[in-house]
Amino acid sequence: RSKMQARHERTLAMVKPDAYKHLGKIINGIQRSGFMINNLRVCKLSKAEAQAFYEVHRGKPFYDTLTDFMSSGRICAMELTGPNAIDSWRQLLGPTDSDVARQQAPNSIRASFGTNKTYNACHGSDAPDTAAQELAFFFGRPGSAAVGKCDLGGRG
Ligand code: PPS
Repeated sequence: RSKMQARHERTLAMVKPDAYKHLGKIINGIQRSGFMINNLRVCKLSKAEAQAFYEVHRGKPFYDTLTDFMSSGRICAMELTGPNAIDSWRQLLGPTDSDVARQQAPNSIRASFGTNKTYNACHGSDAPDTAAQELAFFFGRPGSAAVGKCDLGGRG
């Protein structure tokens, strides 16, 4: 693999409760940007599930606000694949804080559909190991049995 060649990656994209009403527009942006949506689930997280997903932030001052928000309504979890998918998706998202995003990346998803650092429209995994962990949270481990499970191997 040459240094210039993009790495084929998978990442977790999540549309948060505040942006669920914009799901169609967000999916349109994802597909126009060249990602493959390899898996997708709509659900409502319980408080305990939101706490488990954001376990790394346990103890931080915003943990309770964040997990209350994340269990307040429907979310959409998607497995995106493509070249440099992890960084490409975070690029499309823009900065974590939607107020900052409007200044620094006005066309980004968080600038368009989020409000502030709490209500910031979407989540994206930040590294290959957290992507694998977060994808397993919603979609199970690769190779585990599930009816109708999408398993395209490396081709998806
Ligand atoms: S940290 O401490 O630097 O890791 O935090 P940060 O990367 O800025 O944010 C991590 C996620 O926590 C959310 N967050 C908040 N939620 C509620 N209230 C406040 N004040 C707050 N600050 C940060 C932020 O939206 C990030 O969520 P994800 O889903 O990772 O985008």
